[in-house]
Amino acid sequence: MGYDLKVFTGNTNRPLAQEICNILDMELGQAVVGRFPGGETQVQIDENVRGCDIFIVQPICTNEEEGVNPNDALMELLILTDAARRASARRITAVLPYYGYARQDRKDRPRVPITAKLVANMIYTAGARRVLSLDLHSNQIQGFFDIPVDHLYSINIFVEYLLKKKMENLVVISPDEGGIKMARAYAELLGAPLAIVDKRRWSGQKTEILNVIGDVKGKNVVIIDDLISTGGSLTEAASVLRDKGALEINAVIVHPVLAGPAIDRIENSVISELIVANSIPLPKHALNGKIKALSIAPILAESIRRINNDESVSNLFANAKVEG
Ligand code: R5P
Repeated sequence: MGYDLKVFTGNTNRPLAQEICNILDMELGQAVVGRFPGGETQVQIDENVRGCDIFIVQPICTNEEEGVNPNDALMELLILTDAARRASARRITAVLPYYGYARQDRKDRPRVPITAKLVANMIYTAGARRVLSLDLHSNQIQGFFDIPVDHLYSINIFVEYLLKKKMENLVVISPDEGGIKMARAYAELLGAPLAIVDKRRWSGQKTEILNVIGDVKGKNVVIIDDLISTGGSLTEAASVLRDKGALEINAVIVHPVLAGPAIDRIENSVISELIVANSIPLPKHALNGKIKALSIAPILAESIRRINNDESVSNLFANAKVEG
């Protein structure tokens, strides 16, 4: 058994942190995470953490119901980390079910930032000495940290669900070239062929689909991606696939950022079901429609237990060819 384990959270996904604690059969750490008049983030840890192995669960995302945006989420994470460090925690792990700011991970145009690196620096500077994250936008983000990063994958949770749907004549779709490796890993576990959507991104809001590489005519398809923001990429890919003769169209998109028109676009699209993780909480108006959230709490809880005990984490998904 490792050092005394404690889990804390801010206001972006308290239900997920609570679910993790329920699985670990422990209480969620007591902390006030609120706002000073004027809007600055106020934190106080209300229990002794001296010498403890602290895990702070905080996706960097919006939670509309809690009035939290990604910038608030990041500040809550940093300030909680600072508080735990100053209270003599032995080690602090930032548990980031969704690592926001990750899409800007390289300088692909002049005078743009690399926010994925900036945020990594901030998390380290605040005092985190380990990171546990899930389905990062790109694997190289691990290298932006000079501390250990455990990168988890939700593939087994989604594959188990898809297998239960018993879809015949299935083709797995990568919606862009960057997603091919992950889509191929799904295809192998599902025993299905792979097809690729040839997408070009012109800006944060505008994409264009040029072609579909592979045969989807008369097939059921499942589109695999790491995140959905405005829903443009997904719904456009779905309608092109339908035009090419695809029958039932489902999608597995891990992180439901669901910005702006995303939910309406999905509800009005040809997609039958969008399956997501609860890394980001779904807004109330997304419930009871086409979006189904699966819990990643079991994999996060088991990883926290293993890290605390110095056990291997990677063999949790040794069956899936998601890396290499
Ligand atoms: C792109 O690299 C990502 O994997 C997503 O496909 C993209 O960010 C989704 O954005 P949107 O939903 O706004 O089209």
